[in-house]
Amino acid sequence: MANKSLASWLLLLLLLLFISLSLFSIFSEAADKHQHKKKQSSSSSSSSSIDSSVIFSVHGNVYPDGLFYVTLDIGNPPKPYYLDVDTGSDLTWVQCDAPCRNCFPGPNQLYKPKKKKLVNCEDPLCTSIHTIRKHTCGSPHEQCDYLIAYADQGSSLGVLVKDAFNLHFANGSLLQPHLAFGCGYDQQVPSINSPAPTDGVLGLGYGKSTIISQLQDLGLTRNVIGHCFSGRGGGYLFFGDSLVPYSSVTWTPMIRNPSLKYYSPGSANLFFGNQPMGLKGLQVVFDSGSSYTYFVTQAYEAFIYAVKKDLPAKQLKEAPADKTLPMCWKGTRPFKSILDVKKFFKPLVLVFANRKKPLLEIPPEGYLIITSKGNVCLGILNGSEVGLGNLNVIGDISMQDLMVIYNNNKQQIGWVHADCNRLPKSGTALIADGGRDGFGNSFTQPYVASMGILTDEL
Ligand SMILES: *[C@@H]1O[C@H](CO)[C@@H](O)[C@H](O)[C@H]1NC(C)=O
Ligand SMILES: *[C@@H]1O[C@H](CO)[C@@H](O)[C@H](O)[C@H]1NC(C)=O
Repeated sequence: MANKSLASWLLLLLLLLFISLSLFSIFSEAADKHQHKKKQSSSSSSSSSIDSSVIFSVHGNVYPDGLFYVTLDIGNPPKPYYLDVDTGSDLTWVQCDAPCRNCFPGPNQLYKPKKKKLVNCEDPLCTSIHTIRKHTCGSPHEQCDYLIAYADQGSSLGVLVKDAFNLHFANGSLLQPHLAFGCGYDQQVPSINSPAPTDGVLGLGYGKSTIISQLQDLGLTRNVIGHCFSGRGGGYLFFGDSLVPYSSVTWTPMIRNPSLKYYSPGSANLFFGNQPMGLKGLQVVFDSGSSYTYFVTQAYEAFIYAVKKDLPAKQLKEAPADKTLPMCWKGTRPFKSILDVKKFFKPLVLVFANRKKPLLEIPPEGYLIITSKGNVCLGILNGSEVGLGNLNVIGDISMQDLMVIYNNNKQQIGWVHADCNRLPKSGTALIADGGRDGFGNSFTQPYVASMGILTDEL
């Protein structure tokens, strides 16, 4: 949950560091050299003539569910798992009966690993998930442990395994490549969603351990990811670049800074309507694992000030009793949709600081929600409050009705307005499906705000 205090987050981090020290305390020079060599030889095939894509149907919404997820079929025979789509982390993991030490009640059965599916500690994929501290293996045939912690205080502890993923390619082929992923047997969940809406996380960052990077190494798709989340809920996700409408997309170079492990289009200046907000050089990242958008305190406060200044006091009054999100207003009668309030709010515009000055325009639908009580609330939150440091995180709410593309081969991020309820032509008949629609209104906590961004990876 995003509204917990920084103090408890720090506590968790300390705990995680402690666990990691106890997991990886043996150092071995030889093992390291060996891994280095292996890694070099595996990073070969990139942009050959592969033009196949895989498309997944996306389920979920920003409010009330607070996440978007896809169904992946893993194992033989294949079993379905619902995975949270997260461009803010690399590792894909599912809850696992290894046996399970701490699993939340999820929508599907736990994945059951077989011993021969374990990924070896010396495998380059194992090295690639251990980026923070130097990775070492005690003995050559050790298993590959992992521990991953998210900014919302969730975490997963487990072991890397390799198993078949059932993938329907847009060209009509059904393939079952063996891909490495995490078998998570000890999860801490931040929020009190019960039952949990997913069985794990689909990590789509730019690291080597993502399943898309593995698919590229197998020569099956390019390392290009696109998502299109509809404002009405649902949407689609694709791997590969055959569905990208290249000419209409606004492209910007991806900033790859070693301390920044997220997809970043660089720094931006902020405008509200046509007015500059006096905020420049804000470091921006895109994170599909965050339900809402987060600004650093200064930008957050300037944004609230700008929004309030424009509101007609007669028609919109603050509604502190509505705890859905921190800042809500009520009208003279309950609102049914954003269309009822859109006229009171201006678009927010991010102008990125590279030569072409690309714009990302976020309309009121991209930062407002209508609550079950019929009030309107701001879906941009105070990132400093949840320990995001100097990052401004563009979450799901602000990426709705946009196709957002992360081209890891060309190191570019792009976006284009799209109808996300309509699948791109070539994939319509072949979409992988099996999820369900919505989860009802079963959430009672202050607000559901999953955050996929990674704080630590050990
Ligand atoms: C479809 O694409 C996959 C992945 O690139 C490839 O292995 C397969 O041969 C292709 N099938 C056809 C019928 O072209
Ligand atoms: C945002 O969070 C920071 C850090 O917790 C706090 O100092 C500041 O008052 C908050 N701003 C608002 C408007 O809530």
